[in-house]
Amino acid sequence: MDQLRITGGNRLDGAVPIAGAKNAALPQIAASLLSPEPLELTNLPKVSDVENMLNIIGLYGAEVSRDMRGTRIDAADIVARTVDYDTVRKMRASILVLAPLLARFGAARVSLPGGCAIGARPVDMHLKVLAALGAEVAIEGGYIVADAKAGLSGARIVLSGPSVGATETALMAATAARGETEILNAAREPEVVDLVACLTAMGAQIEGAGTHRLLVQGATTWRAASHHGIPDRVEAGTYAVAAAITGGRIELVNARMEHLASVFQALEAMGVTVWPGDRGVVVNGTERLRPVDITTEPYPGFPTDLQAQFMAMASRAEGASLFRETIFENRFMHVPELIRLGADIALNGPVAVVRGGKPLKGAPVMATDLRASVSLVLAALVAEGETVINRVYHLDRGYEQLDRKLAQCGAQIERISQ
Ligand code: EPZ
Repeated sequence: MDQLRITGGNRLDGAVPIAGAKNAALPQIAASLLSPEPLELTNLPKVSDVENMLNIIGLYGAEVSRDMRGTRIDAADIVARTVDYDTVRKMRASILVLAPLLARFGAARVSLPGGCAIGARPVDMHLKVLAALGAEVAIEGGYIVADAKAGLSGARIVLSGPSVGATETALMAATAARGETEILNAAREPEVVDLVACLTAMGAQIEGAGTHRLLVQGATTWRAASHHGIPDRVEAGTYAVAAAITGGRIELVNARMEHLASVFQALEAMGVTVWPGDRGVVVNGTERLRPVDITTEPYPGFPTDLQAQFMAMASRAEGASLFRETIFENRFMHVPELIRLGADIALNGPVAVVRGGKPLKGAPVMATDLRASVSLVLAALVAEGETVINRVYHLDRGYEQLDRKLAQCGAQIERISQ
């Protein structure tokens, strides 16, 4: 298993190209199964979760080809199959193939994803959505068995919470249902808006993207399409923290200001300056970071996917910062590892108090989940001495060439293949 060796102390200065959004790419790859016409996706990030999802649709017989422009998916001749537990266990987002398969074949069998490091992450809302559209859904031996031989019928769906995945499942199923579907309490994340843009390019008729109310006309006539996905706001936010925590300056090339309003607001509260550059967004760190209070919320609130990164930065601020995690029940896996680096963090249920100001010291640490891992990298950039991070494969799930991009900004970082 690869390791990262980082020696802290360098102020970062440079430009980082922000890749396509992983969490936009995954539902769009799944959505390609809805249509017998080819879908070209440009701007897919080169990360293992995207490779994994492309492999999954390949299991169904979708043809995937790549060239300089992007990735072309042809799902004209797919066959119904079962996605087994081992495949789904590795990546929860595999659940997103359930709705397209059900829409296409009138039946689908997909393993339950099981939990993951950040929480139980049930899929009950996805199943309720499919049942509301007329499917028979059962759990048999750890598998979701969905049946809609008579096809799906449009309905009024009220989600119990603005779940990103459940909204995406509802959107994909509704495009193939008879009649109109209304989705209330829909998620407003940019990745959901981007899925609507992709489905629309493919021929779907959807109103209300970016609001809590989506209106989908069913029985779509699919057409060949090409879609350029949005840049990854979580990758951009991560490099913004890299600039802030080292007192450096990084231009986030292609980043979209409007996708990161709550994040930049938190950065400015900490004394970091952010402004639109000619190629994206420029983030200027400061030697003296102020503490911050952060509560994670659904978009446009502060994103849970940047909570761990900001906690690493708060360990450098002068004073006590407070973090309240409201989206996942166990998203503090980075805390024990940050404490190993010398951070002063106290946990009380969904709340963490970070007392900053003491220098961090390098040590061997363990990556646990994607965003927790990158918070350790950020802390290592300012820790005295060397930090060795194990199980780096977690990072490769969502960050394209992280070590190279940081090294190009002056970080002392080396990837050791073992
Ligand atoms: C998406 O996960 C993202 N993943 C996550 O990013 C992100 O943290 C999350 O949205 C919140 O923004 C992808 O898009 C592939 P949810 P998702 O459904 O769709 C509960 C990363 O690091 N819930 O909005 O799974 C759930 O347990 C990943 O890139 C149910 O209870 O998130 C959670 O507590 C991590 N039942 C809350 O809702 C359900 O059926 C929000 O989950 C579905 C969700």
